[in-house]
Amino acid sequence: MPIQDPLEMHESLENVVIKLTQDAEYTRMFAQSFRDGAISPLNISLALEQFLLTLISSNSRFDKALRGELTLSAVEKRGLELFVTEYDPSRKLYGADCFHCHGGPLFSDYRFTNNGLEESYKDVGYMKVTHNPAHSGFFKTPSLRNIEVTAPYMHDGRFATLEEVVEHYNSGIHQNPNLDPNIAKHPIQGLNLSQDDKQALVHFLKCLTDIESLESSISRTGRESEFTQSKSF
Ligand code: HEC
Repeated sequence: MPIQDPLEMHESLENVVIKLTQDAEYTRMFAQSFRDGAISPLNISLALEQFLLTLISSNSRFDKALRGELTLSAVEKRGLELFVTEYDPSRKLYGADCFHCHGGPLFSDYRFTNNGLEESYKDVGYMKVTHNPAHSGFFKTPSLRNIEVTAPYMHDGRFATLEEVVEHYNSGIHQNPNLDPNIAKHPIQGLNLSQDDKQALVHFLKCLTDIESLESSISRTGRESEFTQSKSF
């Protein structure tokens, strides 16, 4: 689906097969890996599945800090604190409330939610599947692991940087009837985070990058040279 979706790779499987067939290296690898040796949509999906299963991210600075192998810097700790703290002035808590949706080992609650990107959505997201207007503007909460290297952000790539994402949650929320209660409870003018706190959140998000696993998955493909130009980590 991501290959064929016009908002993602916007490519046809037929054309992917043609492109791979023209590549001597892929032709050799498919012949070696599959009994029928065919470069077919089924075998492409099986190969991609095997590759995805090797993408294990467990050696970020955050993981290492959890295991006691290093200590996060003061600014990363402040970012973590904001990330996991409620915004609840009645209890004198002024956090950023991120953990409600981006909680757990993968920093996702695996739900579909509305995070206030629009007042009224042209791309209604989950509602396209359920036909329930209460699901308009619902998108799947993405994992935040390796988020530093997967710009642009949100379903439509509207934000180029993590700074822009943090500013969205800080001051850019669009009120709408389906806005998740964990965001809707914030004051209408936003969280009012200081520059330092916004930077701290970005620093925390960047400590979720597992450079070792990213580099090893690229080197395992044996095609490093094709990645070096786009590599941003
Ligand atoms: C109500 C649930 C909710 C809360 C609270 C929330 N998020 Fe999100 N977040 C989402 C959803 C849903 C998306 C995906 C939206 C989309 O695809 O358009 C998202 C997307 C993101 C992305 C982009 C991910 C990507 O791969 O494009 C980042 C980064 C992010 N959130 C960080 C944060 C931070 C930092 C906070 C706290 C300040 C936060 N989120 C609070 C639900 C939430």
